[in-house]
Amino acid sequence: MQQSSVGASGSAYNREHLPVLEQRTSRRKVTRMGLFAALGLGSLLSAVGTVKMLYPTKVVGFGTRVPAGSIADIRQQLSTQKYVVNQEGRFLILPAEANKAIAVYWKCVHLGCTVPTPNASLGGNMICPCHGSQYKGTDGDLIQGPATRPLDWMPITIEGGNVVVDTGIVNTRTAYESNQSTALM
Ligand code: FES
Repeated sequence: MQQSSVGASGSAYNREHLPVLEQRTSRRKVTRMGLFAALGLGSLLSAVGTVKMLYPTKVVGFGTRVPAGSIADIRQQLSTQKYVVNQEGRFLILPAEANKAIAVYWKCVHLGCTVPTPNASLGGNMICPCHGSQYKGTDGDLIQGPATRPLDWMPITIEGGNVVVDTGIVNTRTAYESNQSTALM
């Protein structure tokens, strides 16, 4: 089928009436433009993908700063239940001192089992179900092995009346010290 179009002058002309050299040149130009457009689109999509990878829009959970609740809520739970458990951040908040709390990573420092919450039948302490290591329910200090040190702890900060635990910073220790806990005020 013949291709025809309307020229700038408004008169119809037939492409196949153009000299052969001009037809080839025109096809080459169209092909080249198509190629550049495809390459440009590919580069753009690749750049967008890279930016999305480098700047994820939502980062939450363990490894980030995890909100644990308002100061009032945390104090209330510590005074009644004696601990706060946070599934998202994999930590327990314990009442280390009067009006101070410590956040401990619930992973047993022996071989990594999950240490359950403090148990009233154990005097409020915690026992690892795998090999029986025991930890203090007030601050995660070691009572009995085979673990050889207390549960690891994470920094607590108070932000706008809320308790936030930085689960990206997991500290080892040899014993509980006052600088590991934070005043809830
Ligand atoms: S993993 Fe907890 S005592 Fe062994």
